[in-house]
Amino acid sequence: MDDGIDAIFTKAKQGRALFQDRSALSPEFIPDHLPFRESQISNIAQVLGTALHGSKPSNLLLYGKTGTGKTAVARLVVRKLQNQDDSKQILATYVNSRIAGTEYRTLFKIAEALPLEEDKRIPLTGLSISEVVGRIFESIAKNGIHFVLILDEIDYLVNSEHETLYQFTRAGEQVAPGFLTIVGISNDLRFKEALDPRVLSSLGEEELVFPPYTTEELRSILAERAKAAFKPGVVPESTINLCAALAGSEHGDARRAVDLLRIAGEVAEREGHQSVDEECIRKASQKVERDRVEEALQSLPLQNKIIIIAASKFPGGTNTGEVYLAYSNLARKSSAEVLTQRRVSGILAELDVLGLVEAAVVSKGRRGRTKRIKVLIDNETLARVIGEDAGLLDLA
Ligand SMILES: Nc1ncnc2c1ncn2[C@@H]1O[C@H](COP(=O)(O)OP(=O)(O)O)[C@@H](O)[C@H]1O
Ligand SMILES: [Mg+2]
Repeated sequence: MDDGIDAIFTKAKQGRALFQDRSALSPEFIPDHLPFRESQISNIAQVLGTALHGSKPSNLLLYGKTGTGKTAVARLVVRKLQNQDDSKQILATYVNSRIAGTEYRTLFKIAEALPLEEDKRIPLTGLSISEVVGRIFESIAKNGIHFVLILDEIDYLVNSEHETLYQFTRAGEQVAPGFLTIVGISNDLRFKEALDPRVLSSLGEEELVFPPYTTEELRSILAERAKAAFKPGVVPESTINLCAALAGSEHGDARRAVDLLRIAGEVAEREGHQSVDEECIRKASQKVERDRVEEALQSLPLQNKIIIIAASKFPGGTNTGEVYLAYSNLARKSSAEVLTQRRVSGILAELDVLGLVEAAVVSKGRRGRTKRIKVLIDNETLARVIGEDAGLLDLA
């Protein structure tokens, strides 16, 4: 009986033929060649090269917007450094502080790379931060390790009250005869302002800025990545152009470009296309945008969620005062703290920046100006993504 299974598999087989090496577009993949980053690469290599003579390299601070190649460049250079290290004294690891989640988990991840003695292992919880830092230092010193630590999204370590970063940048004698060099990475250009000047002076011994890619650069990056990932002739030039234009529209974001191309390839495959055409890119773009919105929604703090739920009660849009009234009712109902109207206005402005809410200033004639608030996400998505919170809060 034909229940469509064969048709699905036939399509899948046709689609499968488009990719030659799917992993070449996966988020973890680091290409061996990173065009338009030659100067950053050689700068970092020059600084870290000191480690090959057994001396401690300066700490480095890399910053620039997302998708400008910071992570890929840092990991590539460090990987090559390790390949060249005949002494095998250099130990390198990569930890993303945002993904690790907490200061303790960041330290836990760092410790995983080190040879800690049985009784000095770090448990998943329970030790003080300074005890963990102490054990990390002790292991580096005892084993004379030349430690190169890539600390990605380092800004997530800065807000904490503890002084991990301060201690790390001043490890010095405590880890001798080993050493600890930090390659810090931040996606936030204002990160430096938040940093303790003592930490900045040692962390930012060498600073490198990664500018956004131009659309032309994205085009050439994509063409190269597509060549590795897809079979010849599967990705027309028009697809690359559209993909580069979409990813370059806000700021030249190579992550967005590579994601778009990968997802478009998957769409093409699923739908049995013979090539990754522009329609696939458009579909991929919609999916990326949906994912971005859902991720932003999910990670909102509770108060922001309550505010957006309150605003969503006015599908046609309304003024700040109305939203505030609805918000305070919901907040009281859910026994959350009721914030002031001023604070709620501030949060609405943040939600506007995230593209979740539109807060447009409108004139009320002689009575001055007010803001017109409109939620940009449909209620169905809201319910699906934060409906669970709303249910818990009895807000739905
Ligand atoms: N110059 C480049 N050539 C090829 N791929 C690149 C280049 N720069 C970035 N990429 C790719 O773009 C994506 C995002 O880069 P990433 O290094 O994670 O950016 P950042 O850390 O600055 O946010 C990754 O998939 C990476 O491999
Ligand atoms: Mg990164």
